[in-house]
Amino acid sequence: MGTPETLKSVLASFCTGVAVITACEGDGRPVGMAVQSFSSVSLDPPLVCFCPARTSTTWPSIRAVGAFAVNILAADQQELCRGFAVTGGDKFAGVPWRAGGNGAPLLDGVLASIECDLEDVLDGGDHEIALGRVTALTAHRAGEPPLLYFRRSYGRLPRSPRLAASASMSSSMAAARSRSEA
Ligand SMILES: Cc1cc2nc3c(=O)[nH]c(=O)nc-3n(C[C@H](O)[C@H](O)[C@H](O)COP(=O)(O)O)c2cc1C
Repeated sequence: MGTPETLKSVLASFCTGVAVITACEGDGRPVGMAVQSFSSVSLDPPLVCFCPARTSTTWPSIRAVGAFAVNILAADQQELCRGFAVTGGDKFAGVPWRAGGNGAPLLDGVLASIECDLEDVLDGGDHEIALGRVTALTAHRAGEPPLLYFRRSYGRLPRSPRLAASASMSSSMAAARSRSEA
């Protein structure tokens, strides 16, 4: 099958977005970690997942709280991402955020915020698989590109007419929704 290095380097061919998983501990201390292993799992019930390493020092706090937020990063949030990919220190210093309905920090400037209750934790070898049940979600900054991670480097999609079109489609869908709700 090859060495762990081969496994890592071949799997790095899969391009992903990046999210910061956040939670607020009982004493009000915010915690967070950057992940690329976020994925949607199920629409009904609404489930998402991410895979925290067993070595993560932040994951045990998120697990103990039992509720978290997934903050989907925008292309201009690379520095923010780096700050959440280190162990220790005050990762929230200078980072604007507000508490979501479940108390988890929702970071300013992200493309989407997804609040979850921790539904289950499954064995994933040297990682675990955290399954979250979505309790609230909001998309922000329609038409802005996401932060990408590919072959251990950050990247972004080129600004394209298609992104602009999807922004105008989201705003017309939002307008149609608010008309039908009125
Ligand atoms: C782009 C990127 C993606 C990452 N994805 C994951 C991931 O899916 N799972 C994970 O456990 N760590 C991942 N990490 C590493 C964690 O962010 C980092 O090890 C962790 O936050 C260290 O802090 P902690 O000890 O406070 O958990 C990723 C780092 C980067 C830069």
